[in-house]
Amino acid sequence: MADDAQDQCLSRDRLPRHVAIVMDGNGRWAQQRSMIRTAGHREGAKAVRRIVKACSERGIEVLTLFAFSSENWRRPRPEVELLMNLFVTTLRSEIRRLDVANVRLRFIGDYRAFSATLQSYIAKAERRTAQNTGLTLVVAVNYGGRWDIVQACRRVAEEVEAGRMQPDDITADLIQRHIGLADLPEPDLFIRTGGEQRISNFLLWQLAYTELYFTDQLWPDFDAADLDAACTAFACRQRRFGQTSEQVTEVFHA
Ligand code: IPE
Ligand code: IPE
Ligand code: MG
Repeated sequence: MADDAQDQCLSRDRLPRHVAIVMDGNGRWAQQRSMIRTAGHREGAKAVRRIVKACSERGIEVLTLFAFSSENWRRPRPEVELLMNLFVTTLRSEIRRLDVANVRLRFIGDYRAFSATLQSYIAKAERRTAQNTGLTLVVAVNYGGRWDIVQACRRVAEEVEAGRMQPDDITADLIQRHIGLADLPEPDLFIRTGGEQRISNFLLWQLAYTELYFTDQLWPDFDAADLDAACTAFACRQRRFGQTSEQVTEVFHA
């Protein structure tokens, strides 16, 4: 971005508290190099390590990564198996490093579909890092935004069925309390690599007022400089949450 454009930003150093990323483009990265798609996923895992480190260094509080969507089961079986294996091996090889780096690891998604072994790794990784106070790293696996809304509705329906509340008591705030990541700040910045401009059933509820940023960079190529470019673009946006520009500017200068 040109310097004069940056100078027009209200607060150039305003950092997103929560960054959520759709890590897309692994397959195309590999295909461009005449490699098999799975080589792109392995390279993508290296990008994850790089971006986790960069987020920690910059003081970003939460990083949510879309690792496997509820629709990715539709891929060819060998690719799904590779992704699952990569998930387990990366988790096992990275957990110590993440713990030392004071990262708190969390998972979101419907893990009931996973093997008992994988579910126990997930639980162990969460327990081991639960007291860490640095970056919260949320990994979305077998996650779908619609699934998330459905599971929140089910929990609310259970309350109604038990007679603890009436249908009229159901509000957006109540659903919000049951939705995934409710205890964390809402995502400020959504990044999607790989050139597609869609949400692909990521955090549908949570993204209501998130700033969206799309880049053609393929995920295995995404680095700290690209993260900084996204954060700078974010800092230059005016978030109005339904208000007028003047109202927001008044609040900003108050
Ligand atoms: C994203 O890369 C990784 C996952 C969905 C697990 P893709 O595998 O979707 O890469 P492209 O979009 O085919 O290039
Ligand atoms: C979204 O990417 C899911 C993840 C990055 C985990 P996809 O590659 O699956 O999305 P579509 O199919 O292009 O919408
Ligand atoms: Mg893709």
